[in-house]
Amino acid sequence: MCGIVGYTGTRQAGPILIGGLEKLEYRGYDSAGISINDGNGIKIAKALGRLAMLEGITDGGRKLRGTAGLGHTRWATHGRPSDANSHPHLSQTGRIAVVHNGIIENYRVLKEMLINRGRVFVSETDTEVATQLIDFYYEGDLLRAVHRAMNDIEGAYALGIMCADDPDTLIAVRKQAPLIVAYGEGENYFASDVTAVLEHTKRVSYLSDGEIAVLTPGEVKFYDSFLQPVEKQVEIIDWDVSAAEKGGYEHFMIKEILEQPRALRDTVSPRIRDGKIVFEGIELDADYIRGIDWIYIVACGSSYHVGVVAKYNIERIVRKPVQVVLASEFRYSEPLVTGNTLAIMISQSGETADTIAALREAKRLGARTLAIVNVVGSTIAREADDVLYTWAGPEIAVATTKAYSTQLAVTYLLTLYFAECCGRITESELAAYLEELNRIPDKLEEICSKREHVQYLASLYFSADNIFFIGRNIDYALSLEGSLKLKEISYICSEAYAAGELKHGTISLIEDDTPVVAVMTSRRLMEKTASNAEEVKARGARVLAVTTESLRKEAERVADNVIAIPDSSDMFLPSLAIVPMQLFSYYVAVSRGCNIDKPRNLAKSVTVE
Ligand code: F6R
Repeated sequence: MCGIVGYTGTRQAGPILIGGLEKLEYRGYDSAGISINDGNGIKIAKALGRLAMLEGITDGGRKLRGTAGLGHTRWATHGRPSDANSHPHLSQTGRIAVVHNGIIENYRVLKEMLINRGRVFVSETDTEVATQLIDFYYEGDLLRAVHRAMNDIEGAYALGIMCADDPDTLIAVRKQAPLIVAYGEGENYFASDVTAVLEHTKRVSYLSDGEIAVLTPGEVKFYDSFLQPVEKQVEIIDWDVSAAEKGGYEHFMIKEILEQPRALRDTVSPRIRDGKIVFEGIELDADYIRGIDWIYIVACGSSYHVGVVAKYNIERIVRKPVQVVLASEFRYSEPLVTGNTLAIMISQSGETADTIAALREAKRLGARTLAIVNVVGSTIAREADDVLYTWAGPEIAVATTKAYSTQLAVTYLLTLYFAECCGRITESELAAYLEELNRIPDKLEEICSKREHVQYLASLYFSADNIFFIGRNIDYALSLEGSLKLKEISYICSEAYAAGELKHGTISLIEDDTPVVAVMTSRRLMEKTASNAEEVKARGARVLAVTTESLRKEAERVADNVIAIPDSSDMFLPSLAIVPMQLFSYYVAVSRGCNIDKPRNLAKSVTVE
């Protein structure tokens, strides 16, 4: 939920920390702060609001002098956004400063213990408790003090710590929250993710749960939770900094929408060889797949919506039962798992707390787990039995677009692979599907090139107070995502309904001019959804249809406005239909003057339960 960064080296730390926070701001953006040791103790600058406020009061970080420091950008969990609750937190003695991403669950007990021993707190945060606790245990050896505090702290955290007595040393620790260490020449870094350091270095190591890194300008030492030294592998990041920059676009979101043809090619092409689907590095063989008796797909938000599409495809083509469960529900639902259950976790970040918990629960119950993940080396990618990466590249806009699309693409490949293993499709059917799938990126390019039409339609609908999305089957799955995209960035209250369900109550909300987006890409269900569109029209609704070129005429009969996508086989239509809906949300939100890349109250990576 928050972003943390640390630097120790020979350059001035302030601008480097601010630069890192700019890349991490997508993780949280209600306040930010830095702490730097200037040789006369730890100095802290914090500001409520966007990072620009902090940049302003510190002259881009230059006002705090010193070559080692910590940075933080916050998404509030404990205590409302305020200067006092912003990080870094300083202990009462002024010796220890801490930045934190995560939640300390037993902070109340620890706080009481510390208050009883005379500590005075100035914020409402759990992080200040960790800061004071480390200080409480500090007797001249920071590593030991951090280690003792870690033994007391329960919850999820990535912490960055500095001590006034040792100006060049930073400590970074991790438990169930992302953390990387990165290596420069005579300087080292830690951060919540690699984007924060990419402009300086591409050499990184990923910390595992319970590990501690001690950083000085010349080296990084790693320890396990028993303080035994550990060797870490150095990995080279193979994408460059421009992938995480706007590249001339006004917002990351539009850049990422338009990147989707490329992202799909990168995700799909390497996995099709000589007419066969090849999943390198995963161990799901045909015998195992044939023996699967139940598939769970577990995820949150848009990733969950990918699961809903996948359920329709897998059940229709593979004929195996699939249950799609919200990760936050899965862990408390006493799931029915047998030795032949496959649990598929879908996550862009690979760090979503609920999905991690669901993954662990599925494993504990004996399911085999397969993760579909974008961020390489993330917790879900490392803990699942198998992982399929989505190769979307870094996604910076909080509202997902290209990660959603590449997740969909991976589920198509899985569906076809399962179908082939189970003898549900013939070789020639598979070949036809793959040929069609290979054509999707070109069709996406065509849709993106016609975005002005969607922009025009957005100008007709942007002032709505409520919008409904309706569709049946896979079109309903798409409606869920179309509706989420719109509401999260435009703040228009929007609901997605299975088209046939609307009349069981919700239709009473339709009045003159209520916009209804009717998703009707399925030829099989066109007539049925068209009838539902007629029903809302008869009650005054304005209908915007999302359909295919070949169904355009039928759609025009019931809709006030039509967006038509190129035709394709039913299975892949969601990939085409979602793009105009993303564009529609984008242009509506732009027209309403919303903060596109960082919508209010949200964060890119939800690392709290
Ligand atoms: C919406 C969105 C969220 C995420 C959800 C899960 O645009 O991005 O709904 O899909 O928070 O995140 P991941 O996929 O990182 O597990």
